[in-house]
Amino acid sequence: MSSADPQGLQAVPEELQSREAWLEPFDWYARMREAAPVRYDPERRTWDVFRYDDVKRVLDDDDVFSVDPQKADDFVEPEGPGEGLILDTMLFEDPPRHDELRGVVDEWFQPRSLADREPHFRELASELLDDAVGADGQMDVVEDLAYPFPVTVIAELLGVPASDRDRFKTWSDTLVEAASDDESADAFADRQQQIQMEMAQYFLEMIEDRRENPRDDLISVIVTAESSEGGRLSREEALGMCILLLVAGNITTTNLIANAVRCFAEADADLFDQLRGDDRALTSAVEEVLRYRSPVQAMSRVATEDVTMRGETIEAGDRIIAWLGSANRDERQFEAADAFQPDRSPNQHVGFGHGTHYCLGAPLARLEAKVGLSELLDRVENVRLAEEPLQPTRSSFIYGVESLPVRYDER
Ligand code: HEM
Repeated sequence: MSSADPQGLQAVPEELQSREAWLEPFDWYARMREAAPVRYDPERRTWDVFRYDDVKRVLDDDDVFSVDPQKADDFVEPEGPGEGLILDTMLFEDPPRHDELRGVVDEWFQPRSLADREPHFRELASELLDDAVGADGQMDVVEDLAYPFPVTVIAELLGVPASDRDRFKTWSDTLVEAASDDESADAFADRQQQIQMEMAQYFLEMIEDRRENPRDDLISVIVTAESSEGGRLSREEALGMCILLLVAGNITTTNLIANAVRCFAEADADLFDQLRGDDRALTSAVEEVLRYRSPVQAMSRVATEDVTMRGETIEAGDRIIAWLGSANRDERQFEAADAFQPDRSPNQHVGFGHGTHYCLGAPLARLEAKVGLSELLDRVENVRLAEEPLQPTRSSFIYGVESLPVRYDER
C-alpha cells in the first residue's frame, strides 16, 4: 500500500476493473451480498463488506472499526514533506480528537448557517447556466455545471480565489484517482506526493495571509482555532483541514449533480417536468440519487481487535472496505432496491456515511444539488443523454462519469 493512499482505497477489486463494470457495479454487489457478504480479497489485502446491516455496523462501531489508517498492519509511514497532512484530519481521527477537530468548523456547515447563502449560490449557478444553455440545445452537465458550481462555492466559503479552480480540479482528481496499469506504482505515488506538496504550499500562504488579515471565511475560522490560547489545532492540522474541505466537497458534489441528471434522464420522460418548481419533490429525488447512484461507493476502516462477521474472522490490524453503494441497493433494507423511485420514503441510505463520521458537508451538498438542479430545470426541458459511451470517474470509490453530454430543448 502506498503512503499516498493511506486507506488502500486506490486499489480497485478485480471484478470492477473494466469500464462497463465500474459504470454499473450493482449486479456484482448483488451477487456478493448473497455469495460472500464478508470476504477477504488477497490481491488488495482487504476485507469487503457488502450488506446494509454489516456496513452500518462497521461505520457505527468506532471502537472496533477505527478510521485511523495508521492502525493497519501494512500502514506505510509518509515520507515526503507535506505528505500525510490528510491523516491529521477529522476524517482519519477517532474520538475524542475527532470531535475536537470537527467542532472547529461544525457550526459553519449547519443548514441554518448556510440558509443565508442560498440566494448567492443561486446567482452562481445561474451565471454558469447563462453561459452554458443556448439555442444549440446541447451541454456537458459535468463541465458546464456539476464541476464549476461546487468548486466555486467551496472556494468562496474557504476564502480562496475561484480563479484557481482548474488547479483545485487537478488536485482533487489526482487525490481520489485509482492506480492504473498505464503508469508504474512509483510514478503514481510520486505524482500524488507532488500534489500534496503543492496543496500544502498553497494553503500555507493563505493561512499566513489570514493571520494578518482575518475575514469572514473558513480559513480565518481555522486560523483562529490554530492560534487561539492553548492551540486547538496544530499547524499540520490547520493545513490538513483546509485540504480536506477543498477535496471532500468537490468531486463528491460534482458527481451527485451529474448522477442526478443521469438518473432523471434515464427515468420517466416526465420526471423533469414533475420536479420543476417543486423543491420538496426535487429534494426527495436527490436523496434517491444518493442511494441509487451513490457518489461515494466505498469507505475504509481498520479492525482494532479480532472480530467475527458472518462467520469470518477479521483480525486486529486488517483493513475493511464498507461498500456504501452496495448497502444502498440491499433488498433487505430497500423495497425494489434496483428501481429508481424519486419519491421513495423512507429512504435511510448511507450515501453520506453513518455515525461519527457522517458527512460534515451533507447540508451543503444537498443545498448545492437542489439549487444547481432547480436552476437547470428552469431553463431546459426534454433532456436526453447524448449517444456517447459514458466514461466512469477514474477512482475506485468516487462514482460518476467524466463527462455527461446531453441534448435538451430550451424553455
Ligand atoms: C465525510 C460523502 C460532500 C466534507 C463523508 C463521508 C461520506 C461522505 C460517505 C463519511 C466518511 C467515512 O465514514 O469515513 C459525501 C458525499 C458528498 C459529500 C456523497 C456529496 C454529494 C461533502 C462536502 C463537504 C464534505 C460538500 C464539505 C465541504 C466531509 C468531511 C467529512 C465527510 C469533512 C469527514 C467528517 C468526519 O470525519 O466527521 N462524506 N460528502 N463532504 N465529508 Fe462528505
